[in-house]
Amino acid sequence: MTRSVSFALETIRTVAWMKEVARQARAEGRIIGLVPTMGALHEGHLSLIHRARQDCNPVIASIFVNPTQFGPKEDFTKYPRSFESDVAQLSAAGVDSLFAPDAAEIYPNGFHTYVNVEGLSERLEGRSRPGHFRGVATVVLKLLEIVQPHFAYFGRKDAQQAGIVQQLVRDLNLNANIVVCPIVRESDGLALSSRNAYLKPGERRAATVLYRALDTARKEIASGARDALHLQAAMRRVLDAEPLASTDYAEIVDAGTFEPVTQIRRACYALVAAFIGGTRLIDNMLIEPREGAEGDFHVSL
Ligand code: PAF
Repeated sequence: MTRSVSFALETIRTVAWMKEVARQARAEGRIIGLVPTMGALHEGHLSLIHRARQDCNPVIASIFVNPTQFGPKEDFTKYPRSFESDVAQLSAAGVDSLFAPDAAEIYPNGFHTYVNVEGLSERLEGRSRPGHFRGVATVVLKLLEIVQPHFAYFGRKDAQQAGIVQQLVRDLNLNANIVVCPIVRESDGLALSSRNAYLKPGERRAATVLYRALDTARKEIASGARDALHLQAAMRRVLDAEPLASTDYAEIVDAGTFEPVTQIRRACYALVAAFIGGTRLIDNMLIEPREGAEGDFHVSL
């Protein structure tokens, strides 16, 4: 597939303009990829762009710090914002267009419609962050409607978010294919997250506890452990032993429904969430049956 050479990244501020750019691309028979972000970009986001570039042309990225997915006591106002460096990174990564609306463009006066993916949105992250997934589902639906991409890319670090988006797409018969991409980690295992920027040096070291907890469960699974309570307790022990961490949850759930399981028999997630100082971090690993080897599981951290 030949790509057009773009000299400057086009930044689109309005819904009308974004729809027109996407409409033209569809009319030309092109495959549109969407990478939704809230900015403060890191290698995790760039891995989504790289993946999108393999499948799509044009690749459209969005930067929108979505106010409706933050609770009243959460970090909306202090969420890291680095628009200029984000644009430079997206441009260097070969993004064709950037959709960066302001809040009034997405939620104009008189806006009253929200989307709620029931059940899935109430567990785990949803229990700790009431209303969070209603905000995520609403803005993602709006982005999918505005851009109408063939493919949209999400990181597996936010596994429950990706599951909710997949459910939304199924339930509302949307056309986008949702692609969930691997977690990108620092060399010591810490999953990349825009919120890592909040960590003070001591906290940064302590933050690897999420990875260490998952890695402990991974080793247990490799030694044959399948009991969810046993694995959860093993992860919790690691998290609780870190003085700077305050554990929110350490759970093994079904990879499709995010319902708790008692035994690992099918694809599952091990999910952990903890406060490191004032910063809430999440991480997970995917546990999947190994093909052709009954009872054996492959783990992706
Ligand atoms: O994962 C994120 O950055 C956000 O939740 C998303 C998907 C861009 C929606 O605001």
